[in-house]
Amino acid sequence: MIDLRSDTVTRPTAHMLETMLRAKVGDDVFGEDPTISELENYTATLFGKEAGLFCPSGTMTNQIAIKVHTQPGDELICDVNSHIYNYEGGGISFNSGVQAKLLHGNEGRLSAELIEPAINGNFDWLTRTSLVSLENTVNRAGGSYYRIEQIKPIYDLCKSRNLKLHLDGARIFNALEETKDKPTDIGNYFDTISVCLSKGLGAPVGSLLLGDAKSIQHARRIRKVFGGGMRQAGFLAAAGLYALKNNVKRLKEDHQKAKALEGGLKELELVESILPVYTNIVIFNLKKELMTGDTFEKKLAEKKIRVSAFGKQTIRLVTHLDFTDEMLVETLRALKGMA
Ligand SMILES: Cc1ncc(COP(=O)(O)O)c(C=O)c1O
Repeated sequence: MIDLRSDTVTRPTAHMLETMLRAKVGDDVFGEDPTISELENYTATLFGKEAGLFCPSGTMTNQIAIKVHTQPGDELICDVNSHIYNYEGGGISFNSGVQAKLLHGNEGRLSAELIEPAINGNFDWLTRTSLVSLENTVNRAGGSYYRIEQIKPIYDLCKSRNLKLHLDGARIFNALEETKDKPTDIGNYFDTISVCLSKGLGAPVGSLLLGDAKSIQHARRIRKVFGGGMRQAGFLAAAGLYALKNNVKRLKEDHQKAKALEGGLKELELVESILPVYTNIVIFNLKKELMTGDTFEKKLAEKKIRVSAFGKQTIRLVTHLDFTDEMLVETLRALKGMA
């Protein structure tokens, strides 16, 4: 089976599993798991932040960040496509009692010009704006990414208006692969950053929240309240360390394969349009009169290829560590057969 539904579907390799088995562990709720501490310190240092917090999921790191930066009744600003708004089960309001002001960015990317007029003034009858959240890369916008020059004015605006700035960096290494920026370049501009280990990096579980020591201490308490305090989870942290040390450089292969899929799709009569392919995500629309997303998904499943119908006429493909060169050839052949 070829699985292109998401980059979360990867399985740990034999090397990763061996590293996991050898991990030194302890009770992390007591702060005694050496491998988790190593992962938290390693990732925080990588991004130039003071501290890190290992959590079971990207949803949890994002939701903890929102809770750390806001009070109930506040408002956060994010793009209409953002994962925190669309795919975290209403957590913004459920967990933090916060409402979202949604902006229509350019391919999911916000700018200071868009954000500035959306910040509420300091009046009793207006909701207090306290947080801006960016996503990099933007999942729903085909893996688009920010350049540092686009982030800096947003950072300056947030500083001048006393707003916190969070980054959902579930796929931050995919963005860095394209911009060639260093993780510390990104780290400088955000109060907190979520970094996922279980997407393109191929670890089975985990995400880190990075920030200053005080925010992460607060985040640790919220993680416990959310039920995310883990005990001997150093086995999982070992997979994360392995992923960070071995699986970042190869992300460009995923991007090249996504481009190859785009090339194959361009040849198909069925395809109406394809979002620009920036990293490892390919989103395209099918012509209404020719095929629905559901039918496309079913037809490919018959050829043992799984994809996600992302809307009535829309399909998403995501390349990853377990999508081999042979699988690419087979997928391109199957796509040709859909014409
Ligand atoms: C952009 C983005 N942020 C956050 C998440 C949440 O990650 P998790 O599935 O680990 O909760 C995802 C998941 O795919 C994502 O794509």
